[in-house]
Amino acid sequence: MSENTPLVSHDGPIRWGIVGTGNIAKIFARDLPLARSAELVAVGSRSQEKADAFGDMFNIPRRYDSYEGIVNDPDIDVVYVATPHPWHHDITIQLLNAGKNVLCEKPMAMNVAETREMIEAARANGCFLMEAIWTRFRPAMVKVREFLNDGTIGEVQYLTATMGWNNPFDADFRLFNKDLGGSALLDAGIYAVQMVQMVLGKPVEMVSVATLGESGVDENCMITTRHANGGVANAGITVRASSRNLCMIAGSNGTIVMDHDWHRPSTFTLFRAGQEPEFFDCSHEGIGYQFEMNEVEDCLRGGIIEHPVISWSDSLEIAQIMQDALRSWGVTFPYDRD
Ligand SMILES: NC(=O)c1ccc[n+]([C@@H]2O[C@H](COP(=O)([O-])OP(=O)(O)OC[C@H]3O[C@@H](n4cnc5c(N)ncnc54)[C@H](OP(=O)(O)O)[C@@H]3O)[C@@H](O)[C@H]2O)c1
Repeated sequence: MSENTPLVSHDGPIRWGIVGTGNIAKIFARDLPLARSAELVAVGSRSQEKADAFGDMFNIPRRYDSYEGIVNDPDIDVVYVATPHPWHHDITIQLLNAGKNVLCEKPMAMNVAETREMIEAARANGCFLMEAIWTRFRPAMVKVREFLNDGTIGEVQYLTATMGWNNPFDADFRLFNKDLGGSALLDAGIYAVQMVQMVLGKPVEMVSVATLGESGVDENCMITTRHANGGVANAGITVRASSRNLCMIAGSNGTIVMDHDWHRPSTFTLFRAGQEPEFFDCSHEGIGYQFEMNEVEDCLRGGIIEHPVISWSDSLEIAQIMQDALRSWGVTFPYDRD
């Protein structure tokens, strides 16, 4: 990373604000004390009651009954956007236009057009923006990337990344509700898609299939891609089967296997031709969101508005794969645009 004018003007802990008080906001807030230098200074909710309850839970001094409270608070260095995906775009753009740096939950937006507008707003305002693909910063994934980059397994030609769980249908739950951005692919399949994109880049060819459920959202899907180096990949998600989560990255000289919750890996095995398998254990404290918080801190202090490990073009490529797949299955949302 190059050194530019810092995006924060103090040496104290990074002052985080949070927008939304749901499931992931709580998990994130729980991990925040594990970050190198971070404090939670403000929370915004659609209701004062929820802002206060969240504030009490995590000892947050400033609690707002609207997201605008966070937008207008001058003493926040970076905002974590933790609303359901259809509400990522508007609030992120408001925050960026108010000069705030943003870590936005995944998927960054509902489609490519929204993603592009968010990136344009970050660029125009000189603010940091990153899609919260936290898995890329976990120590195990950092080690896997080292092996990919230093040629340990040779040129990757074959990748499979699949995950899932059996989630009983619930029309009100975000996953099954199109008004809330419902789609197994957007919700969790993005982990498999981002893995393919991280390892093999943008596809040159793609075919995919999905099974749609009673609310018209994709519940089982498989996306197969071919890439410029000849490599092929499978990215799958199911919310209808009690699936093991498996990822195998196979190169000309060896294979990396993550056979336990690879979307949030702590361990993996390296297989090299003619050698004993090597098992790596990269366990750590907490769930592991502190690692992306530390990366955000490095960017803010280093004046970097686009993180190289989950860059804006990465987010656009991930959004394009998902948009193309969803549209090919006939999954439409009230938020669709070209
Ligand atoms: N990185 C990860 O590991 C991970 C894990 C789970 C989810 N996520 C992502 O994080 C985002 C939020 O997921 P979640 O599981 O935390 O969702 P959630 O539990 O439903 O919480 C979302 C929060 O967003 C706010 N919100 C704003 N507009 C809303 C609306 N129209 N309907 C419902 N809530 C609304 C609510 O907070 P207030 O009422 O306080 O405003 C709500 O508590 C999603 O984009 C999801 O893909 C990421």
